[in-house]
Amino acid sequence: SSLRMYVDELPLIPKLFGYTVVNGVPQPANLTIGMYKTTWKFHRDLPVTTVFAYGASAANASVPGPTIEAIQNIPTYVTWENFLPQSHILPWDPTIPMAIPKNGGVPTVVHLHGGISPPQSDGHPLAWFTANFAETGPTWTQRTYTYPNTQHAGNLWYHDHTVGLTRVNLLAGLIAPYIIRNVSLDARLNLPLGPVFDRVLMIFDRSFNSDGSLYMNSTGVNPTIHPQWQPEYFGDAVIVNGKAWPYLRVERRRYRFRIINTSNARFFRLSLTNNLAFTQIGSDGSYLPNPVATQAIVLGPAEGADVVVDFSTTAASESVLTNDAPYPYPGGNAVDQLNSKVMKFIIQPGAPSQTDHSHVPPNLKTYPIASNAIGGANTTRYITLYEYLTPAGTSTHLYINGLRFEDPVTETPRAGTTEVWEVINLTSDNHPFHMHLAAFQAVKIQQLVDLAGFTSCMTRLNDAILCNITSHATGPLVDVPPTERTWKNVVKMAPGYKTTLVVQFFVVDNAHSPYPFDPTAEPGYVYHCHILDHEDNAMIRPMKLVH
Ligand code: C2O
Ligand code: CU
Repeated sequence: SSLRMYVDELPLIPKLFGYTVVNGVPQPANLTIGMYKTTWKFHRDLPVTTVFAYGASAANASVPGPTIEAIQNIPTYVTWENFLPQSHILPWDPTIPMAIPKNGGVPTVVHLHGGISPPQSDGHPLAWFTANFAETGPTWTQRTYTYPNTQHAGNLWYHDHTVGLTRVNLLAGLIAPYIIRNVSLDARLNLPLGPVFDRVLMIFDRSFNSDGSLYMNSTGVNPTIHPQWQPEYFGDAVIVNGKAWPYLRVERRRYRFRIINTSNARFFRLSLTNNLAFTQIGSDGSYLPNPVATQAIVLGPAEGADVVVDFSTTAASESVLTNDAPYPYPGGNAVDQLNSKVMKFIIQPGAPSQTDHSHVPPNLKTYPIASNAIGGANTTRYITLYEYLTPAGTSTHLYINGLRFEDPVTETPRAGTTEVWEVINLTSDNHPFHMHLAAFQAVKIQQLVDLAGFTSCMTRLNDAILCNITSHATGPLVDVPPTERTWKNVVKMAPGYKTTLVVQFFVVDNAHSPYPFDPTAEPGYVYHCHILDHEDNAMIRPMKLVH
């Protein structure tokens, strides 16, 4: 690709309000959002691209789709509608477990990532539906989803979650931000606010054919086993908010950027040139207890960082947001001149148009402390990540605990409890581990000694206790980065390490919640790797809450 960088302005993502204000008081709102086949211009010099996009109407569909802005404790109801055509715009692979409608059409189902949602509104992978609800998957129940928004304020996003088609449907464009606000918290924190100074940056990579169409390899890495499936999709253009390598003119003042990596498989390690640094204030959907100054932020797929950048601290007239994460991460290819650049900030000379009264308070928000929560945990689970290779060393599929998605549920936490999950990564890549409903954080990351011996025992017994995990996880400890010490929804699992997670399964206090729901209802939830090519084949397992 010879596209010029920094020729398109960073788009403002369209916004829909998940509430209505009646006599000054916010009230629940009903939204209708469709999925449309439309075209999108990713770069000035690239022909238009056919995409699948979310929008309030066909004419308003965009990539990313509209930001839903909700208010804490005011529920938002969304009717999701599928207007997609009979056939997909990208290749897919019928040999992996996937939705195959009998009469054609593109199956879709929407998940609010990071949402504490009722199971029936969570976007279960088998709750898919085709255009006009002509055909529905086995766990489909309803057209309108309820988002209670009772969780704390923070950054979420919504995306497709159809079994076996997630990587393809997101690549086609079905991704969008979702923000929960708490107005009095915003006032207390006094962070940069408003549409100009508080921006979402959705970052993802894509490849294009010269006619502008999206490029996805249609031949698998092991075509005799899986005709199309590839273990990771990497694109050579870096897209932010729908434009390849955009620019944004900024004033010499503070900005808040809610950064979300919505790539299929690419990790980013972000930095700013010209000596600018990030002040990280949040990770995924939660604030950090205190701001953390950092030069670099590593984001796995689906991971988010909430940051403040103060452009008044440099004399330079520009700053480039750069990336130096190898792909696959962490042991793969080094970045090249294309994927090492993300976007450019053009810093206007002179004083800002208005005095910047925002600041970054030393104390952001207090949550329960993970190391205290661990004392109350009553269950420890061992979760092992495997990749299966051909004798020649290429990937055929990936499983959790050696089990398929369709195998009976084995993780049945009690609603409202805290558990310890020991996640053991026996593969050579980092996996961004994601759980629905739960919030979790790493408290200990320790290397496995004699990884090969432990792996061969696990391959025979599939039992971490019998294979004596505690005698293997004795290697060097790795610090949990200060930027990730909060309640997250994606945690990166280093290869050859055991990562100890403290996991909170939300209690829904039906006596006190304004919008109670039963988290133990069908069809339950899932947890999975958020490298979408892994999730689809099939690093994903069901999770069923019980009373
Ligand atoms: Cu962001 Cu189960 O997904
Ligand atoms: Cu993975």
